Amino acid sequence: MPIIEEVPKKTEFKRIGVHSHIRGLGLDENGKAKIIADGLVGQTEAREAAGVVVQMIKEGKMAGRGILFVGPTGTGKTALAVAIAKELGEDTPFVEFRGSEIYSLEVKKTETLMQAIRKSIGVRLKEKRSVYEGVVKEVKVRRVRHPYNPYVMVPREAKITLETKDDSLTLTVSDEIAEQLLSQGIRKDDVIWIDAQTGRVFKEGKVKGEGQELYLTGEKIVEKPTGPIKKEKEIVNTVTLHDLDLYFASRRAGLELLLGFSPLKEISQEVRKAVDEQVKKWVSEGVGEIIPGVLFIDDAHMLDIEVYSFLTMAMESELAPIIILATNRGVARIRGTEMEAPHGMPLDLLDRLLIIPTRPYNPEEIKQIISIRADEEEIALSGEALEELTKIGTERSLRYAVQLMVPSKIIASRKGRSSVSKEDVAEAASKFIDLKTSTEYVSKYEKLFIH
Ligand SMILES: Nc1ncnc2c1ncn2[C@@H]1O[C@H](COP(=O)(O)OP(=O)(O)OP(=O)(O)O)[C@@H](O)[C@H]1O
Ligand SMILES: [Mg+2]
Repeated sequence: MPIIEEVPKKTEFKRIGVHSHIRGLGLDENGKAKIIADGLVGQTEAREAAGVVVQMIKEGKMAGRGILFVGPTGTGKTALAVAIAKELGEDTPFVEFRGSEIYSLEVKKTETLMQAIRKSIGVRLKEKRSVYEGVVKEVKVRRVRHPYNPYVMVPREAKITLETKDDSLTLTVSDEIAEQLLSQGIRKDDVIWIDAQTGRVFKEGKVKGEGQELYLTGEKIVEKPTGPIKKEKEIVNTVTLHDLDLYFASRRAGLELLLGFSPLKEISQEVRKAVDEQVKKWVSEGVGEIIPGVLFIDDAHMLDIEVYSFLTMAMESELAPIIILATNRGVARIRGTEMEAPHGMPLDLLDRLLIIPTRPYNPEEIKQIISIRADEEEIALSGEALEELTKIGTERSLRYAVQLMVPSKIIASRKGRSSVSKEDVAEAASKFIDLKTSTEYVSKYEKLFIH
């Protein structure tokens, strides 16, 4: 039997739209920040510090420690965390979590955090499997009427011809495999492998052109395999601890889940323990490798004392991700207590954190950031519109200026203009107010209504 019978659904990493222009930290080979690079502008000290962190993570020297970005709103704390994720590459799990996400009526606070922690730890599973691998030359699915519904045709079996540079083989496969061939849309010229034992079908991509049609499907292009069709192949799957928790828990819950009871809100201690033991076993057998990822907690001051203690404990445990926190609070009350503390966080947590400050931007930097965002969103700004947005970014907030760009473009295009003018920006700013104005607005009415 394979390590796990089917690959659990992968955790999806969400990407925040307003940071899509960021491609990395923009450092040179000596770790010095280039003024403008990888979508980032200025903030050079913080970027260089972040570069050191990336190196520490890559060298495995961040265990038990964390990072805290502190700075006023709109100074790029979230942007820098996203840049760190980009530098670490796709293979390192990076989970974004907002402090406020822990407040849910349905799930316990610590459970929500625990799930986020386990989503940030990857397990790379390597195993040798016996597979049939090759380029699909022909595939024919035989269908029969559904036994209970004569109007539906279901696959009965399939005949598939695979080819490598040196071999060719025609297989007759079961209905289960036939169904996978259909659901994955396997066609001629696809390179696939079929697990000899479990019948799992995996599509690797389209075979590299042999002078035939040109495929413009965005599919991965792969070399035609060599050697025999039936072979031993090393297969690598990266899943997270959370994926494994869900997989083990659903296997235990089995029937209950099938009948639609109790959607899995909480994963039991026993399941997690079983998963951890299994993972350690895989590691000791040489088939598994643990990849500690990053858990980024934005607006970390939203957490409360109970969650902070849990987090501090989690940082010290054997299987821990690297924690990156960000906050724009100075001295604040620790939620759940009457105590005031730096950044509203308990000292035993702060003791474990390396602190990176971010500083406000000057108008020139704000202008650059707005231009980069305009390019990213394919928005053409007139010179005056850029000046106006820069002014808004300097006087109100960078975030507000960034958020006004798309509305300004829509306003311009309604007037039949492809380029955004100063008036469009002004109109957008009058329709959508900034945070300071909106707070003043509501408090003005509060005075009118509350006696
Ligand atoms: N140095 C930079 N270079 C390019 N873009 C930046 C830079 N700093 C911030 N930005 C962009 O400006 C906007 C605001 O920055 P960001 O959201 O990162 O601020 P923040 O410090 O996290 O603020 P808050 O405390 O309100 O969460 C985002 O769209 C971000 O991508
Ligand atoms: Mg932020």
